Amino acid sequence: MKEMNPRIALTGARGRLGTELCSLLPGLIPLHRPEFDLTQPDTLAPALDACRPQVLIHAAAYTDVRKAEEERAECWRVNVEGTRHLVREAIRRGIHLVHISTDYVFEGTRGGYRETEVPGPVRNYYALTKLVAEESVRVSPRHLVIRTSFRPREWPYPVAFTDVYTSQDYVDLIAPEIALAVRHLEEIPYDTLHIATERKSVYELARRRKPDVQPGSKRETPVSLPDDISLDISRWTELKQRWKEKA
Ligand SMILES: NC(=O)c1ccc[n+]([C@@H]2O[C@H](COP(=O)([O-])OP(=O)(O)OC[C@H]3O[C@@H](n4cnc5c(N)ncnc54)[C@H](OP(=O)(O)O)[C@@H]3O)[C@@H](O)[C@H]2O)c1
Repeated sequence: MKEMNPRIALTGARGRLGTELCSLLPGLIPLHRPEFDLTQPDTLAPALDACRPQVLIHAAAYTDVRKAEEERAECWRVNVEGTRHLVREAIRRGIHLVHISTDYVFEGTRGGYRETEVPGPVRNYYALTKLVAEESVRVSPRHLVIRTSFRPREWPYPVAFTDVYTSQDYVDLIAPEIALAVRHLEEIPYDTLHIATERKSVYELARRRKPDVQPGSKRETPVSLPDDISLDISRWTELKQRWKEKA
């Protein structure tokens, strides 16, 4: 199996996904506040020049979906403007950008979304900023947008919805897949990739780590939730199979 060994930096290194990636990709260079702050554009160039990465995984974001509705300006500043500034600096330095995006760029009415489908309309402000951020990454000549979705290692709630379908999984299962994609970056002939697992209800997912979780319905919450936000992962499945056969 051909694996590459470039210098890789990571934004959002202290976040849920970032923490997992740091332990999976030895030598990863973490970028974080205050030295690297997406809302302080002047910090980006010096931080990148100090570590001179060839690959940059951009996992930093404003991720609080509910709070984003009240803090729209801050969410936009981090996710859209911050990403735009980062893209500009990455292009200047010829850095290959791996942008972590979300299944929430899709509406979530019917599921099975493929990479080639037009995303939107979005359900909330966070999703809007992530969709615009994706589009800003696409001006970079060297980029990969990874759409994914994950939960913390343990199911945190007493209830899980039986009427929301997803292809998300626990972060300790998703992060190794993203690390694998990064290791094989040069062998990925796409600019967009869905990394997730099979379609299931959120309740089914929750039961895997919390067997006594109670079934609930999205009708019990005031938040707009999708019926089926699952991603088609056949591209990713085929790529993994190809690498396995070559190994
Ligand atoms: N969690 C999910 O279910 C999910 C689903 C799909 C996609 N995603 C995407 O996956 C990525 C990682 O998500 P996560 O759940 O691991 O996020 P998280 O735990 O909320 O961590 C976010 C990270 O972003 C950093 N950050 C926030 N504002 C920043 C700024 N102004 N400058 C620099 N860094 C900043 C935070 O830094 P501090 O440590 O300093 O706070 C933190 O390390 C995000 O792009 C998210 O949109 C997440």
